[in-house]
Amino acid sequence: MKALVLAGGTGTRLRPFSHTMPKQLIPVANKPVLVHILQDLRAQGLTEVGIVVGGYAEDIAEALGDGRALGLRITYLPQDAPRGLAHGVAVAREFLGDDDFVMYLGDNMLPQGIGGVLDDFRAHRTPARLAVQPVADPRAFGVAELDAERRVVRVVEKPARPRSDLALIGVYVFTARIHEAVAAIGPSARGELEITDAVQWLIDRGHDVRASRHTGYWRDMGSVDDMLECNREMLRTLVPEVAGTVDDSSRITGAVRIGAGSRVAGSTITGPVCIGRGTVVEGSVIGPDTAVGDGCVVTGSEVSYSIVLDAATVDGVEGLHGSVIGRAAQVTSAGPERRHRLMVGDHASVRLQTT
Ligand code: DAU
Repeated sequence: MKALVLAGGTGTRLRPFSHTMPKQLIPVANKPVLVHILQDLRAQGLTEVGIVVGGYAEDIAEALGDGRALGLRITYLPQDAPRGLAHGVAVAREFLGDDDFVMYLGDNMLPQGIGGVLDDFRAHRTPARLAVQPVADPRAFGVAELDAERRVVRVVEKPARPRSDLALIGVYVFTARIHEAVAAIGPSARGELEITDAVQWLIDRGHDVRASRHTGYWRDMGSVDDMLECNREMLRTLVPEVAGTVDDSSRITGAVRIGAGSRVAGSTITGPVCIGRGTVVEGSVIGPDTAVGDGCVVTGSEVSYSIVLDAATVDGVEGLHGSVIGRAAQVTSAGPERRHRLMVGDHASVRLQTT
């Protein structure tokens, strides 16, 4: 069995971060989403991985290389424009050959892994198997309708009036039969080759399509709030380790990871918190539910339930909460004067507390 990861697309909803990095590389618990996905695939014994890439092909290839470090063989499959998930399968046609494969959308996180859906597929191999989970508002997702025997009878992409609450959660297992379907369908009303249309094509021709209900955590990294929630969830399983230095006046409680070359002084860190390598934390209160990347400087500040990306500076800022600070961004206090000095980039979002 092979794996196909879809990491093209534009990621407009994750602006401003997706202006400068693909959303699939945004770090969750200090590790890019794609790395979490690839580790999940490896844990399932899959080593042949194709990654569909678009405009950020070079950044993704630079981050992941040939996959050897992760125990994988990665083949990059360029897609000229985001023409739909089924188009991603078409782009991968040669790489996939006639093998069964799992398709994993590169912006979906399932921390407990995809073992359940793969076990179901192995136990009962059908042309398509879709991982699903009930959601409160299915209109933002592909939606599957099942019959009494749990066979999928209908799949619809982002329906205005959903007929079930079962969302497709970005993991699909296919046999080579799907290629016939992908070749047969045409673009949808929004101009994309939809994987839901290809699956429906199979259903309409009497093929057995099944759903597997994922009972673990799942999050589509669609918004900045999703990033923070997912970061919190991933930090729950953090294995504590202090490789950097912590001085005697600092207090560390809960699960805390501090990378090599980092220095913590005069600070309180309340886990779960992970701090990358070569970062300085001084006179600050960090955590819980916070990830600080590599090469950051956090001084005289309070940061909780937040993500601070590599090389960012936070200085003299109290009460940072629910925040994502971009790479090499600087957030500093203006001192006692009641003035704010801001240089805010396109599509950024800033919320200031005024008293
Ligand atoms: O998150 C689950 C949802 O993902 C499903 O419920 C939907 O049925 C499915 O269509 C998808 O919806 P999204 O609107 O979230 O799809 P998005 O455009 O974010 O693309 C998902 C991933 O696939 C993302 O990593 C980008 C990549 N992609 C997307 C398109 C359209 C490609 O590689 N090529 C493409 O042409």
